[in-house]
Amino acid sequence: MVIFGTRPEAIKLFPVVKALEDDPRFTPVVCVSAQHREMLDQVLDIAGIAPDHDLDIMRPNQSLDELTARLLVGLGTVMNEVSPARVIVQGDTATAMCGALAAYYRKIPVDHVEAGLRSGNIHHPFPEEINRKIIGTMANLHFAPTETAAAALKAENVDPARVHVTGNTVIDAPHWVTGRIAEQPSLASGLADIEERFAGKRIIGVTSHRRENFGEGMEGIAEAIRRIAARDDVAVIFPVHLNPNVREVMNERLAGADNIALIEPLDYPNFARLLSLAEIMLTDSGGVQEEAPALGKPVLVMRETTERPEGVTAGTAKLVGTNAEIIVTEISTLLDDKASYEAMARAHNPFGDGEAARRIVELLGHEFRSQA
Ligand code: UD1
Ligand code: UDP
Repeated sequence: MVIFGTRPEAIKLFPVVKALEDDPRFTPVVCVSAQHREMLDQVLDIAGIAPDHDLDIMRPNQSLDELTARLLVGLGTVMNEVSPARVIVQGDTATAMCGALAAYYRKIPVDHVEAGLRSGNIHHPFPEEINRKIIGTMANLHFAPTETAAAALKAENVDPARVHVTGNTVIDAPHWVTGRIAEQPSLASGLADIEERFAGKRIIGVTSHRRENFGEGMEGIAEAIRRIAARDDVAVIFPVHLNPNVREVMNERLAGADNIALIEPLDYPNFARLLSLAEIMLTDSGGVQEEAPALGKPVLVMRETTERPEGVTAGTAKLVGTNAEIIVTEISTLLDDKASYEAMARAHNPFGDGEAARRIVELLGHEFRSQA
């Protein structure tokens, strides 16, 4: 049983679902919590995945405790009905943590995709750092995206024989979507009007949604965007996350400003288009920190710490926090100093080679054989 509920989990697990579907040894059962609704459905549509179970959990502005309680009961109920041989979860969301816990309660082995990411700070990212650690204590197979992630698990005394470096499926997903866009180019033409409006301008792509940035952090981010977009040569394209804690601040501070397009969340092909148009990405997202380096796009990360240090080590990512002054200075340096830009704008792919899902399925096959 493959369990997911939010946009990034769907993006990072659809390649695994497809690889399982293509392998006659497996019968994948897809259970979505729908912790996200519209943003999950955007991915299910493009990937052509029809879930076997859909818990439709999302409520407006849901609290973590309500969400956790409903997820645990809902996912446990589906597990009772399906009795899966194994459960696969990805990353660090409430859905992933509750999926692992419900499986553990039933003594069903849990396989963790994107295991071993650690920032070392339980409040950044919040609550994801703890969610990952909880899952790591219960997981049977740990699919670490990088050697760094594998080393973090081993340092926590996880049995090294259960840890496998597979790469991150975030690199598999665009390979597949690029093929779909080649067949049907209109899939990625959703930004055409904005591209025309901002023709000749230097595009900065923005995403933001982290809970630890709510309040003061979001205010700082909005102020930085307002100041940067005051330049004539720049335009900001910002698909705004559906979380009301993000939308209220951004709408209040930025709606209607020249050189800023506040738009609805983009589906995955059109977000890929934004990544290709952008000269710089400004984000607090986990996934975007992995995708931008793969394309050689400098990514300024609006966080104090990161559990994905590989992009920073490679030089394509830089931590800038949420202070408006600092963000504006960092963006201006990249815009105005060619050498600084070129030092960051080199394609690096520390996160994978596009073969992670295939490796994960091979390892699962091996696991079933060794149990037979
Ligand atoms: C969640 C994850 C976070 C992940 C992020 C990816 C947890 C605790 N948080 O954060 O780790 O990085 O997803 O985007 O698991 N909403 C909608 N429609 C949607 C999605 C969200 O309206 O399709 C609104 C709802 O009001 C919802 C709110 O956003 O209550 C918050 O959603 P939630 O899943 O609790 O948290 P995210 O901030 O999205
Ligand atoms: N993404 C998307 N549309 C958008 C913004 C992001 O499809 O408008 C994709 C992006 O390509 C990446 C993922 O969503 O793969 C990141 O999700 P998010 O930032 O919501 O969560 P995180 O990665 O921080 O958990």
